Amino acid sequence: MPHPDISLPRLIAHRGLSAHAPENTLAAVRAAHATGCTWVELDVQLLGDGTPVIWHDAGVRRCSDASGRLADLDLPTARRLDVGAWFGDAFRGERIATLAEMLKLIDECGMGLNLELKVNRGRSAAALVEEAVPAALDALPPERLIISSFNDDALACTRELAPASRLALGVLFEGIGRGWRSRCTELEAFSVHADWRRLSRRGTTAVKDDGYALLCYTPNDPAAFAHLWQWGVDAAISDDPSRFISHLP
Ligand code: G3P
Ligand code: MG
Repeated sequence: MPHPDISLPRLIAHRGLSAHAPENTLAAVRAAHATGCTWVELDVQLLGDGTPVIWHDAGVRRCSDASGRLADLDLPTARRLDVGAWFGDAFRGERIATLAEMLKLIDECGMGLNLELKVNRGRSAAALVEEAVPAALDALPPERLIISSFNDDALACTRELAPASRLALGVLFEGIGRGWRSRCTELEAFSVHADWRRLSRRGTTAVKDDGYALLCYTPNDPAAFAHLWQWGVDAAISDDPSRFISHLP
């Protein structure tokens, strides 16, 4: 199956450099770039007014100075949130990033993006895909983009928008159990993204033998992760990738 010619790095910064900057912000991507990361993983979902923004949770309490549901905010209201102060004073005043702003920054930095379509409970997968995927396809070349999701509806809608040769799809798994292969085949996936703690040697081998790239989230202890490189994992999506550099095989 033809796929974009993606030169996958060993290390990808999870939610930006989220060990050192507030996750999923422009600051976190700038920090990742500054430490030499070439790819980032970020989450995208829609505000209540349909604007795609870079955000992980269904609510805003954990990563802002307010509370409530993201789905209840429009862009002007969301922009009033401080999304940096919770992490540290150095980031006070950081604002929620729209997808458009983030794509511009990533392209300016020449970075690659694993954009995770985050379909939280009660939200529409189709609406998210419609707003987020064409924007990402317009902004970045196919060699620097992987769209991933746990949500099969989101992945299927995404595949309808672009063929495998034009868009790399990553299928997210917690554990790689029965049915993983049919899910990946139907979606013409480029990559499998698995929770590293639940990955077996047998599962790793099966995924690699079928020709998929294998990315693991979210290891932060390079010593505990070392055997996974030996098994054939391609990339680690970590909050702190620089910790892994001296442990790469
Ligand atoms: O995309 C990998 C990883 O980000 C999936 O889990 O909850 O951190 O978005 P989460
Ligand atoms: Mg994610």
